[in-house]
Amino acid sequence: MPVAAADRGYLRRANNKIKTIVHKVKYIARPTAQLVCRTLDYDDVLIAQKQLKNHRQWIDSSIESEFAKKFSQWNQSKYAFPFLSGRASLSACIFALGLMPGDEVIVPGFTCIVVPNAFDFAQVKVVYCDIELETYGLDVEEIKKHITPKTKAILLHHLFGLVCRDYMAIIELARRNNLYVIEDCAHSTGAFYKGTRVGNYGDLAFYSSELSKIFNTIQGGVVTTNDSFLAKGLSRFYEHAPYPDFERIENQLHNVIVNYYRFKHPLRNHLGIKYELRYKDKIYDSTTEEEIMGIKPKDYGCKMPAAISLLAINQLSKIDYYNRKRRQAAKRWDAWCVGMGYQKPKVVEHSAPVFLRYPILVDEEKKRDLSWSTKNPKITPGRWFLTNLHPVKRVVPGCPNADKAVRQCINFPTLL
Ligand SMILES: Cc1ncc(COP(=O)(O)O)c(C=O)c1O
Repeated sequence: MPVAAADRGYLRRANNKIKTIVHKVKYIARPTAQLVCRTLDYDDVLIAQKQLKNHRQWIDSSIESEFAKKFSQWNQSKYAFPFLSGRASLSACIFALGLMPGDEVIVPGFTCIVVPNAFDFAQVKVVYCDIELETYGLDVEEIKKHITPKTKAILLHHLFGLVCRDYMAIIELARRNNLYVIEDCAHSTGAFYKGTRVGNYGDLAFYSSELSKIFNTIQGGVVTTNDSFLAKGLSRFYEHAPYPDFERIENQLHNVIVNYYRFKHPLRNHLGIKYELRYKDKIYDSTTEEEIMGIKPKDYGCKMPAAISLLAINQLSKIDYYNRKRRQAAKRWDAWCVGMGYQKPKVVEHSAPVFLRYPILVDEEKKRDLSWSTKNPKITPGRWFLTNLHPVKRVVPGCPNADKAVRQCINFPTLL
């Protein structure tokens, strides 16, 4: 029987309504939970809201240098230069070290794609090296096998906020072989080794304030050094770095508001959805499709503008407080591990990790299907990293431990 025109209109409207509801449900249920940083508070929202009304303050070198100065003092480093991401800060390191096309750098075979990308963009050859499975850092014995006459630097990382097991052994190996050390402290801002913040033992270090990290400006990063010669190189890179365009700054400020209401506000289950839907076109994506494909984005390498530096200053003032909470949570996870028979992550002697996440190794099946976690511990773990060069599926040969971590390492949150 033919459908009357009025009925067709009704069906179309009903269909559209269903489509909208499906879209909203899919949108809300998308897997963002692992990217949550819970250090944004209402005072950060107030800063973002004030900035959104005051475009004229968005670029201001006195505020930008104030953050640089405060970060360097807090981090016990002589020099600091803030950029709009950890990866841009790594590019500054590559420039300051004068790495050239054809030079080689040793990098963990278990990291985020943006790390090798920074070297690829400078045509520096990345040589992947296996990790150990106690702190997921570079294994010093493996590094020795990869040093060639072309090796110029080693990039070590302190993953999940742990201080890497072979920290001092790697620094000593580098010194003996005349190699530079870049410390990837993207996960470990504020961690200590022998009373000094990590990042101060190598030649250069970079930190991240991306939204899943220790402190949060949605996107951001800092590079530090204690070497005056390298600081001159960093300074040259910084002077020539562009500012982001106003759309990007505005977007970041809106994301502060969304993230606070979505993940931190006491009524987040109601307000979060409202704010997320309101700002859905502005929701920030940590790594763009271009970067996943290895293409350098056009706004790569920007310096941190004043609008974001004000947030960074506020976040910096709270890092120690939140890191204390993370350490307390890690103690609770320690007890849980003992009860469940899991191996605790290693805390290197004389170190004070910050536990961005609490990583453990579980059976492969348990990483694939996390449904067990709803019963005990009733908290869904994160699965970073699901590939050797997260999130890109690229084979990294000769890194069996990194492959194991990809299959078996999960991590629990330390701030709820
Ligand atoms: C280990 C590691 N290093 C570096 C970075 C880069 O930091 P950013 O996102 O600020 O560029 C990330 C980012 O997620 C990371 O996980």
